[in-house]
Amino acid sequence: MAQIELIDIHKQYVVGNSTVTALSKTSLTIDKGDFVSIVGHSGSGKTTLISIIGGILKPSSGKVLFEGSDIGSFDDESASAYRNQKIGFMFQFASLLPILSARDNVLIADLFSKHRQADAESKAQTLLQMMGIGDKVNSYPAQLSGGQQRRVAIARALLNNPKVILADEPTGDLDEETEAEIMTLFKELNEKHQVTIILITHSQDLASQARTRYRMAKQNLIKL
Ligand SMILES: Nc1ncnc2c1ncn2[C@@H]1O[C@H](COP(=O)(O)OP(=O)(O)OP(=O)(O)O)[C@@H](O)[C@H]1O
Ligand SMILES: [Mg+2]
Repeated sequence: MAQIELIDIHKQYVVGNSTVTALSKTSLTIDKGDFVSIVGHSGSGKTTLISIIGGILKPSSGKVLFEGSDIGSFDDESASAYRNQKIGFMFQFASLLPILSARDNVLIADLFSKHRQADAESKAQTLLQMMGIGDKVNSYPAQLSGGQQRRVAIARALLNNPKVILADEPTGDLDEETEAEIMTLFKELNEKHQVTIILITHSQDLASQARTRYRMAKQNLIKL
């Protein structure tokens, strides 16, 4: 069975009198443990697509199935469990809260979870160590470099042991070395822990390292 299935997704944004069609008749099947890259021009619908997969945006029509269940039919509790427990979301803009330390920014993922983890604090610490910023747990985002902030966002995405990581331009503003390190991390999660990775990137080089590759064009996906 496919882990994620998108069936005939349409998404329109209505702003005042105008309507923007971001996705049209988009279908996609992703197997557990796949490493998927999506490239495409700015405005082609990539962020819209993974926001719908992650359950933080509803499609105008069409369905998203996760392990065979229609996520659109979930009640509030199941929907938030899906977003918190199954999905690790790395947003396009590293969305850290400026008033919280690195550790607390990671712990947000536990705070909003129904299944609070007794060892969340030590896990946050371990994850930040894994990301190479174990010495920065008490630092605030403004005291961290762009790359370090990205690592905090990755640690947060990993806190609840997600089955799927949705990463929207996770290395957008990073130097090549840090970019390569983050890519190595994704590969490890993918190969050793069978975490499915869906990576949006403008980098052809990163995209080519994925097992399954797509391009977003004309509000739809083309398999490469
Ligand atoms: N909240 C919104 N309200 C109105 N229009 C939106 C909204 N979000 C996105 N759009 C429009 O939908 C289309 C797809 O946007 P989306 O953010 O999915 O593109 P993208 O491929 O992620 O682009 P980028 O590479 O620049 O991040 C664009 O035309 C955009 O202007
Ligand atoms: Mg985007």
